[in-house]
Amino acid sequence: MERPEHELIRQSWRAVSRSPLEHGTVLFARLFDLEPGLLPLFQYNCRQFSSPEDCLSSPEFLDHIRKVMLVIDAAVTNVEDLSSLEEYLASLGRKHRAVGVKLSSFSTVGESLLYMLEKCLGPAFTPATRAAWSQLYGAVVEAMSRGWGGE
Ligand code: HEM
Repeated sequence: MERPEHELIRQSWRAVSRSPLEHGTVLFARLFDLEPGLLPLFQYNCRQFSSPEDCLSSPEFLDHIRKVMLVIDAAVTNVEDLSSLEEYLASLGRKHRAVGVKLSSFSTVGESLLYMLEKCLGPAFTPATRAAWSQLYGAVVEAMSRGWGGE
């Protein structure tokens, strides 16, 4: 069902998705500020990053940023009915549990997402737009949480 909040989501995402890497970097820089303990979970070729800056400039991590932005893009495209993404999101949840991510860290990701949207949209990030994003992100995390088996 088309609802006004879906239009708010689509409109606001248009501005962000023009430069996904730039905005995704804002999101993850904020995430590492809020929860520095997440940094060691990102390891490529068994190499740990020495600082958030080191991580945020590595090609493998930039690929992860692109992947995250693509998942959000898919959620925006399917905002009216996320059921087609349910299985994918549950398996994505399982993968994240396997690499040591706690479900609770996805709340910090949500805060960082709202922070990035606010930075990108400025005054256009109205309370209604914020509420619409909180709802969509909540639905994505709920679907991913099935991969944690109800933890
Ligand atoms: C707590 C924050 C997060 C951590 C610590 C984390 C960590 C990881 C790690 C270590 C990998 C495997 C290496 C890689 O592909 O780069 C990965 C894969 C991935 N992550 Fe994340 N991630 C986080 C949040 C997210 C979010 C919010 C999304 C999307 C909504 C996401 C989407 C993906 C995707 C699509 C993959 C690739 C899965 C595949 O190979 O099939 N991640 N993540």
